Amino acid sequence: MNPFRPSFGSSPPEFAGRHELINEFVLALDEGPGSPGRATLYVGPRGSGKTVLLNQIEDTAREHGWWVISENATPGLVQRLATDHLPALLADNDPQARTTKVKSLSAPLGMGGASWETTEAHPRQLSVRSQLGAAADLMAERGNGVLITVDEIHGGRADELRELAMAVQHSFREQRQVAFVAAGLPAAVNERLLRDQLITFLRRAERYVLGPLEPYEVAEALQRPIEASGRSITPEALDAAVQLSEGYPFLVQLVGYHLWRQHPDTPTITISEVKAARPAIIRRVGTLVHEPSLSEISDVDRAFLRAMAVDDGPSRISDIAERLGVDSNYATKYRSRLLAAELIIAPARGYIDFELPYMRTYLRTRSRDLDTP
Ligand SMILES: Nc1ncnc2c1ncn2[C@@H]1O[C@H](COP(=O)(O)OP(=O)(O)O)[C@@H](O)[C@H]1O
Ligand SMILES: [Mg+2]
Repeated sequence: MNPFRPSFGSSPPEFAGRHELINEFVLALDEGPGSPGRATLYVGPRGSGKTVLLNQIEDTAREHGWWVISENATPGLVQRLATDHLPALLADNDPQARTTKVKSLSAPLGMGGASWETTEAHPRQLSVRSQLGAAADLMAERGNGVLITVDEIHGGRADELRELAMAVQHSFREQRQVAFVAAGLPAAVNERLLRDQLITFLRRAERYVLGPLEPYEVAEALQRPIEASGRSITPEALDAAVQLSEGYPFLVQLVGYHLWRQHPDTPTITISEVKAARPAIIRRVGTLVHEPSLSEISDVDRAFLRAMAVDDGPSRISDIAERLGVDSNYATKYRSRLLAAELIIAPARGYIDFELPYMRTYLRTRSRDLDTP
């Protein structure tokens, strides 16, 4: 069976790298309330491994005995915390949460006529803030705490995030055992959330950008699952596969998946499979990553990127301005927007390049189609 998982949010067969990030988180748990890592934000483009990293962080917290509440910033986040997650935590961990008392005795004992009433010690309408406090106190009795993770934070409603941020911040001030870890797309996080003065909390969070994996990490992420599933890969093929992935986690899975499926019944994956799979891999990353990323930006931004795709490597901003027939102020404005959107990087002064692997190729082959809706 193909061991690779080229789909968003699916745990990879071998989780590569990111060890420092996990170590930092463990340190934040050990250091106690007040440790800066108790509010952490991971940002990175689509497919950089944010969701999978959050899952690892959650597992790590559970191994440390922490209670984990795993959420996504879709509308209703605060409501779900207040009426679902936190009451469940309280009911599961508090021996006094459900007190049962005799309401009335309407018949002599032994006749089965007693009726019972269950009262919730933690009624559902309580605020996130008060319930989080109570939850953290309960967990603290055992030396543990409460971790809340929020994925896709860029899509969250500002009012809800503000309310949650205030609850978490309040717990921090009261020295409670609470940690908060969120993940999102960098541009949206920058523009929407960090500019919102009320969400100062997120601005102060420890912030990590999920960059490419190291080549040796990619090699392990490819080789180990192949061998665990009973096949092997030649060193030459492995090298080529590592290069093809450019360290981008989604591509690691996509490359592994396409290499495996060519001749699943042969014992060894060779360089010829890497060569044969290459076009399909690049096409697929185009459909799953580049196309959605490009559909979110304006026509002018896309024209700018297409003008960049003419170059084989980093582009000079002055060349782009010339190709587009615009002045350099105008070009600089679009440069800033695309940098904020994490579609381009600035490798050197006056130069820009694509952030995501194979976007250049995608724009070259698909530039005509992009003009026609
Ligand atoms: N550290 C990693 N090692 C190996 N594969 C990874 C790693 N992180 C993510 N992946 C794979 O990359 C793909 C995208 O991961 P995901 O967490 O969904 O990205 P994001 O949430 O940033 O869009 C998934 O197929 C996942 O299995
Ligand atoms: Mg994700």
